[in-house]
Amino acid sequence: MSSSHVTQLFPAHETRPLEGLYLAHDLRKAAADRPFVYANFVASLDGRIAVPDAVKGGMKVPLNVANARDWRLFQELAIQADLIITTGRYLRDYAAGKAQEILRVYDDPRFADLVAWRTGQGLSPQPDLVVVSSTLDFPVPDALTHGGRHVLVVTDRRADAARIQALEKQIGRVYVVGDEHVRGDEFVRLMADLDYRLIYSAAGPKIAHMLLAGGVLDRLYLTQVCRVLGATPFSSVVDGPLLDTSVDLRLISLAYDPHAFEGVGQLFGCYGRR
Ligand SMILES: NC(=O)c1ccc[n+]([C@@H]2O[C@H](COP(=O)([O-])OP(=O)(O)OC[C@H]3O[C@@H](n4cnc5c(N)ncnc54)[C@H](OP(=O)(O)O)[C@@H]3O)[C@@H](O)[C@H]2O)c1
Repeated sequence: MSSSHVTQLFPAHETRPLEGLYLAHDLRKAAADRPFVYANFVASLDGRIAVPDAVKGGMKVPLNVANARDWRLFQELAIQADLIITTGRYLRDYAAGKAQEILRVYDDPRFADLVAWRTGQGLSPQPDLVVVSSTLDFPVPDALTHGGRHVLVVTDRRADAARIQALEKQIGRVYVVGDEHVRGDEFVRLMADLDYRLIYSAAGPKIAHMLLAGGVLDRLYLTQVCRVLGATPFSSVVDGPLLDTSVDLRLISLAYDPHAFEGVGQLFGCYGRR
């Protein structure tokens, strides 16, 4: 099989091009008449989505899990969205030079087809960005609002009033949703009121918990690289208290990519709310 292809195992067994695999999910259709929320992770077989960063401190996506083939699919998911969820942690890392721009389609010629796809759909040039944060302890770099992209901030009642005012001066409205934390259900209701339909979480396990606990995560995209890493602290797809009831997901599609990391391989799984 050529390296430009993967083997789809479910629903139908067939060889398919890697490029276009997730564009074909046509998420905009799913969000035609209601908000539709989806999240994406790449993990090791033992479930690690982040490991300690020995050089810069904090946690980071493991370098021996992140890969260009999965990144392509990440971009295919991001380009379809009206709104991308990110976090205070991301903006702190971005300011410190530890994180890259989420959507790379505009500065990487490998993704020119995705820019053309979005233009062809008649969408705004880029999805807007919503930052979820309790502390509001982050700068909003000018680069993020470049090109007319809206950056919204959603916080909870613990947030500092002066910091809210300062952010409002810089970027516009800051929304307060929830007492101790932003609640997933209220968050999505607010985004729907603001006319956002297709909402993509590029954030981590706490936001995944917020969305699952609020009953508003419609779809989980999970890439599993066929590698075992270990590492403490254990950082997995969801981080937060035991959910009141388990969230049962059904398999929508599964593809095997034998080419990642020179034959190590990875599985591209997509799971939907029942
Ligand atoms: N492997 C992967 O696919 C993948 C994907 C995404 C992220 N990651 C990794 O996961 C780690 C954590 O990522 P992350 O920080 O973006 O995501 P996160 O764990 O989902 O969110 C952490 C931050 O978001 C804010 N937050 C989350 N839930 C909140 C709520 N309900 N209410 C108010 N604020 C809330 C807080 O910001 P404040 O501290 O500002 O209050 C919190 O510190 C990073 O190391 C990242 O690299 C891996």
